[in-house]
Amino acid sequence: MKTINAFDPATLGTLPERRQALIRRREALLGPAYRLFYQDPVELVRGQGVWVWDAEGKRYLDAYNNVVSLGHCHPHVVQALQRQAATLNTHTRYLNEALLDYAERLLAMHHPSLDRLMFTCTGSEANDLALRLAQFHTGGSGVIVTDWAYHGVTASTAACSPSLGAPGAGPLRVYTVPAPSGGSEGVGAAFAAGIEQAILRMQAEGVRPAALLVDTLFTSDGVYGAPAGFLQAAVACARSVGMLVIADEVQPGFGRTGTHMWGYQRHGIAPDLVTMGKPMGNGHPLAGLCARQDLLDAFGRETRYFNTFGGNTVSAAVGMAVLDVLEGERLMENAHAQGAYFSQCLQALARRHAWIGEVRQFGLFLGVALVHDGDPARPAAAATTRVVNGMKDRGVLISACSRSANVLKIRPPLVLERAQVDVFIEALDDCLRGLSGS
Ligand SMILES: Cc1ncc(COP(=O)(O)O)c(C=O)c1O
Repeated sequence: MKTINAFDPATLGTLPERRQALIRRREALLGPAYRLFYQDPVELVRGQGVWVWDAEGKRYLDAYNNVVSLGHCHPHVVQALQRQAATLNTHTRYLNEALLDYAERLLAMHHPSLDRLMFTCTGSEANDLALRLAQFHTGGSGVIVTDWAYHGVTASTAACSPSLGAPGAGPLRVYTVPAPSGGSEGVGAAFAAGIEQAILRMQAEGVRPAALLVDTLFTSDGVYGAPAGFLQAAVACARSVGMLVIADEVQPGFGRTGTHMWGYQRHGIAPDLVTMGKPMGNGHPLAGLCARQDLLDAFGRETRYFNTFGGNTVSAAVGMAVLDVLEGERLMENAHAQGAYFSQCLQALARRHAWIGEVRQFGLFLGVALVHDGDPARPAAAATTRVVNGMKDRGVLISACSRSANVLKIRPPLVLERAQVDVFIEALDDCLRGLSGS
């Protein structure tokens, strides 16, 4: 399986000696499933705000980090973590008021129908639990996902992640539908039609529907969020056969889209289950799931849930500190303002470089499709790889996504400033100029 923007071991001999030795050691200890970014992988040793430094002291603009959404090593979060770690760290089998305060604050940011919260350590675990709940509630096993989705690494979530190349393993029956690309008014109807067809396939095979699982910004498929509201038809279609709707907010959540705290809110839908992760702990492993009370009540009567580290005392302190910063520094508003400026600059570049086929921008989540001669039907995968690596050489970290491997995936920390957008644009302009011909 070819992974986008992955280091190619065949080129190992061309790298400096220290890097070669580290890569060999890593392979010997961790095995081959781990992939490194970039043709010449980066060894990061320090981070601050939107910047990271490698072992040789070179500074990079981190435009690919939606985990540390508040910036690397945000002092308010680091202090909260240090304070709690030095006081007590334990789990959810003891009473802990701070965890309840945090749950109350986070739930208040969601649709009122989502009034229960369960804690996990990773987005994969949150999605895995959501799938279990959907199976439990519907008695079904049929799950619909988009055809280049990524939802995690557990057996169930990997089976729901066609972009991993994983075979559909486990008790679920997974059906894929085309991603909602195009950005025009017809997107919602076309996406819902794909879902209808998947339901028909499911029914023809005697599989009972369980869940529609979507990343509400389709970030692995190529970053699709326009026009806002297009998910409504898909949700209606899924619900017509009793499926639960799971909104995976691991990527778009916590204000990244600039206009709403959650991607599902952009679409005016109320999912049955919402999963969260990555930026929830600004680098600390904190994730979770919001659900309707009736879904958790029935499940909880039949089974118990204990996750040793999910919802631990330190995580609760970190999660609360993240919300303090998100709100106190008005980072959603910043994502909106800087994202708009970013998009304007990219559109200006697109007028000069036919390589840029389309700019998709939702706050500070951006996808830039690179194509040959401005033709959207001719994705430029090789050029995309060169640009991702060229940006790295120029001190800017990004990656790529989509089935055609031609979409630059850009998601800087939400503390990004205008001058840093200019640094990015200058590097991209230079990279695109360096691509010969089309
Ligand atoms: C949309 C989406 N869902 C789920 C996950 C899995 O999260 P984690 O890596 O925390 O298990 C990811 C991770 O990249 C993701 O992008």
